[in-house]
Amino acid sequence: MKSLLILGIESSCDETATAIYDSEKGLIGHQVFSQIDLHKKYGGVVPELASRDHIRKLLPMIDNLLKETEKSLQDINAIAYTAGPGLSGALLVGSVMSNGLAFSLGIPSVPIHHMEAHLLAPLLEQESAEMPFIALLVSGGHTLLVLVKSKGEYELVGQTLDDAAGEAFDKAAKLLGLSYPGGPEIAKLAEMGKPDIFDFPRPLSRDKESLDFSFSGLKTSLMYRVKQLRNDDALDDQCRADLSYAYQEAIVDSLVGKTELAVVKYDINSVIVAGGVGANKQLRTKMVDVFSKKGVEVIYPSLEFCTDNAAMIALTGLYRFQQGIINENYQITVNPRWSIDKIYEGKNAYG
Ligand code: KG4
Ligand code: ZN
Repeated sequence: MKSLLILGIESSCDETATAIYDSEKGLIGHQVFSQIDLHKKYGGVVPELASRDHIRKLLPMIDNLLKETEKSLQDINAIAYTAGPGLSGALLVGSVMSNGLAFSLGIPSVPIHHMEAHLLAPLLEQESAEMPFIALLVSGGHTLLVLVKSKGEYELVGQTLDDAAGEAFDKAAKLLGLSYPGGPEIAKLAEMGKPDIFDFPRPLSRDKESLDFSFSGLKTSLMYRVKQLRNDDALDDQCRADLSYAYQEAIVDSLVGKTELAVVKYDINSVIVAGGVGANKQLRTKMVDVFSKKGVEVIYPSLEFCTDNAAMIALTGLYRFQQGIINENYQITVNPRWSIDKIYEGKNAYG
């Protein structure tokens, strides 16, 4: 059987990414350009700058990828792109380019849900986890617990009521005068931190019925602590490291605790952790510690597929394409607030 080639395009936030997935050989190439340096001086992503940079980078990156994989546009069978959730302007750049290109080539375009792609990312490297499984999706914009019943059948069982876990890391880094993105910075500093110096709240941890998270109180608590330490002239490097240690512990405990509740509630044998915060070493260690004792398997995509990439978009695009779920009229519309349990509602899969 002739293999199918899917070109994947990701532009939902501050990474521009392209990939080609071959239905027979798997991933044959992928490229990621991070805009971190562009946004660093603002301490966070500036949406308009992100859109403009996607416009600059996307076509040359598609060109490079085709050269690198020794393919031409005529070899591509469908173009999959992130249609949501994300920044609307950034999503529109990917949608306009993907639909324009697909229309001109006379091939289908396939709108993809960014978070579904994150939770299928481990399949880029290994066979599927035993279903049903629980996916913990933790990024700069989302913190979700999803019950994956089958490929395409998802139930949102828990989510953050306020800030996302990645956002909590990023805001803490800003408070401590560290650079963006904050997660890796806090994690690095925490390695030098001592335990039992500071303690931060784990909101909702006593509520064993709820699978939801809350991180805004944690951030406020850090803010007051930093203010007080500054007034006392005590915010030195070791103190910042100790604060980072305790803050990271609080986030990791919340994430592991609620995942544990979900595993028990739905009688699950495997957990997938995905999204940028999934790169956090302490989270990985604690997840394995807690779940190996219970005989529950914990699966992570490798670091390059944990953070935003187009390989996961192309892979998810292949499944959609094979199911016949395509963007029939090359609609440019995107859905910045697309919920993961509404993937299949609506004719063109826009939720
Ligand atoms: O999934 P992602 O690459 O982009 C989206 O938000 O969609 O996630 C980025 C987030 C940022 O908030 C960043 O601070 C966080 O992931 N992050 C980390 C680590 N690496 C990235 N958080 C904690 N520890 C890390 N090692
Ligand atoms: Zn993401």
